Amino acid sequence: MSKNNVTRRQFLSYTLTGVGGFMAAGMLMPMVRFAVDPVLKKEAGGEFIATPMKVSDLTKEPQRVDFTFKQKDAWYESEVTNTAWAYKDGDKIIALSPICKHLGCTVNWNTDKAHPNEFFCPCHFGRYEKSGKNIPGTPPPQPLDIYPVQVKSGYLYLGKAQPRTEV
Ligand code: FES
Repeated sequence: MSKNNVTRRQFLSYTLTGVGGFMAAGMLMPMVRFAVDPVLKKEAGGEFIATPMKVSDLTKEPQRVDFTFKQKDAWYESEVTNTAWAYKDGDKIIALSPICKHLGCTVNWNTDKAHPNEFFCPCHFGRYEKSGKNIPGTPPPQPLDIYPVQVKSGYLYLGKAQPRTEV
């Protein structure tokens, strides 16, 4: 018997190690996939969400539009309600986020009697023009985010709100 020959014991050891490794991988892969898969999934971008607002009911005056959708954070699915301030500007529909760009409070339309026809943030007296442009000298550093809009069957659909640096 030459020195390079594999003994019966070595052959058995290699074979069992190989088969054992293969079986372990077969059992572990589904577990790893289950644990990691939702995290790796691409976020569904560009989706438009239906709102209960009929486009024919929109006017030049910003109106509060609440809309609800299902949100999935990895393994957890929840129902979320968001808000937009929507109005018509000629043929265009403008839908603004109500989240103040200072520290994230909620802005309201036309609630500051001293400054009518503006968006007003009560937390630190932030103010925005109707277009969402932040008014200099008040805390917000940027304009309100804007939602991409679509109209389907006469109803307003909103995409993901986008930040703006200028209006
Ligand atoms: S959070 Fe709106 S002004 Fe500060």
